[in-house]
Amino acid sequence: MPITIAQLQKFKSQRPIVALTATDYAIAKILDRAEVDLILVGDSLAMVAMGHRNTLPLTLEQMIYHTQAVSRGVSHALLVVDLPFLSYQVSHEQAIISAGKVLQQTSAQAVKLEGGSPNMVETIKRLVEIGIPVMGHLGLTPQSVHQLGYRQQATTPEASDRLSSQSQALTEAGIFALVLEHIPSDLASQISQNLKIPTIGIGAGVGCDGQILVTHDLLGLTENLPPFAKKYADLGKIAFEAVKQYSQEVHKRQFPA
Ligand code: KIV
Repeated sequence: MPITIAQLQKFKSQRPIVALTATDYAIAKILDRAEVDLILVGDSLAMVAMGHRNTLPLTLEQMIYHTQAVSRGVSHALLVVDLPFLSYQVSHEQAIISAGKVLQQTSAQAVKLEGGSPNMVETIKRLVEIGIPVMGHLGLTPQSVHQLGYRQQATTPEASDRLSSQSQALTEAGIFALVLEHIPSDLASQISQNLKIPTIGIGAGVGCDGQILVTHDLLGLTENLPPFAKKYADLGKIAFEAVKQYSQEVHKRQFPA
């Protein structure tokens, strides 16, 4: 049975939510078979699948293209898509059109937007009002890399208070879940306890209502792992060795047998 937003929200009081990112059909199928609750077509795909230095170059059209491939591999998980940089910050109308295109052209059920400024809160209100489910994202928001770097966020009392207030404002605007990235774990736990909606952490400690990782990090397909990520397999090494073996067998005329 496909996971709905209502079910995901119920998990908050029942068990931790399992979330991962997907960039294509093959990965999506593996995650879906493993009964991951939420699959995010994250804009990190600009880095892990397209080789960019950050997430900024990714366009809405590229995101839709990847999501269409992921969609074909998903029948169980809730499918959420990142709105890429500059596809929602210009105006509320732009955000509605971008989010609407994602829902119209893919089988995704929701979009994710970064930030908690009053303007973003208003954008989210408008999206929710017309029936587009939104997941929030606070803390380290990679689309602001040139302002924030990749450092841990909300490390001062003022920044921590600001992030808590933003989490409340986003919840009131109607987000159904909130990603908390690279913030102190005591702050993430406190926000998770205060909010009615589930929080999904990445580098935010065990007190969140769920966890998300970039699948390429988990599988050992990236070179520079963030400090909070965990490599559960080294597929990069396995793939390299397989390709080397194939190459040697072709050179020696051992393949095909
Ligand atoms: O783009 C992404 O993969 C993300 C997750 C790290 C939450 O936003």
